[in-house]
Amino acid sequence: MARRKFVVGNWKMHGLHAQLPEIGAIAKAAEAAPGVDTALCVPFTLIERAAAVAGAMPIGAQDVHAEKQGAHTGCISAAMAYEAGARLTIVGHSERRADQHETSHDAWAKAVAAHGAGLDVILCVGETEAERDAGRAERVVQAQIEKSVPDLAQASWFTLAYEPRWAIGTGRTPQPEEIASIHAIARAKLRRMVGEEADGIRILYGGSVTGANAADILALDHVDGALVGGASLTAEKFVPIIEAAK
Ligand code: G3H
Repeated sequence: MARRKFVVGNWKMHGLHAQLPEIGAIAKAAEAAPGVDTALCVPFTLIERAAAVAGAMPIGAQDVHAEKQGAHTGCISAAMAYEAGARLTIVGHSERRADQHETSHDAWAKAVAAHGAGLDVILCVGETEAERDAGRAERVVQAQIEKSVPDLAQASWFTLAYEPRWAIGTGRTPQPEEIASIHAIARAKLRRMVGEEADGIRILYGGSVTGANAADILALDHVDGALVGGASLTAEKFVPIIEAAK
């Protein structure tokens, strides 16, 4: 099944209003690449103004709470993110799994809540370096998918992102055959969970993607796009990745 390439920037805890022109420039490049789906996930504080300068390029959140409302100081619900202008959200990012001790069950609950509020979902999975060194990468990723992907996941709103934790922000990437192998395993696991729908679900690779390596990574089997951190912070670095997906 043909899957459109999907390139998503994750600004993490970067970005003040002064960076809005950068988002405008990225959106312009996205518009010039109509064959590629491009989106940018920004801090909550930027969502509303980013959406105003992003034109047709969807703006996303980087996390949402699993509950609709309640006594959760400092948290943001999926409906709040949607109301601010977000049309998608990342859940289960490894930095939240590590820093906020989020589990695969938490990621599952957030994915369900986000979908319920009308947000598309990018759910992240990926092994640590110790798990890879111990030969457990495949099993870890399969277990994370098992526990965090909702049974009702559909290609129209759900995307999986494979991000080996040791490749994030380090300038190191797995060998191409290692990426292709995990993506094939992830697709097979999705098929066992959601049947033929899995063939339409996009699986992104994330971890030190740059303009220099994007074309090679995006050409791999079952790699349907990229989730990009550091190299999404400026149009100068991000646009070549969008163009590599054309
Ligand atoms: O969400 C994005 C990933 O964590 C990748 O980050 O491109 O800076 O390695 P990076």
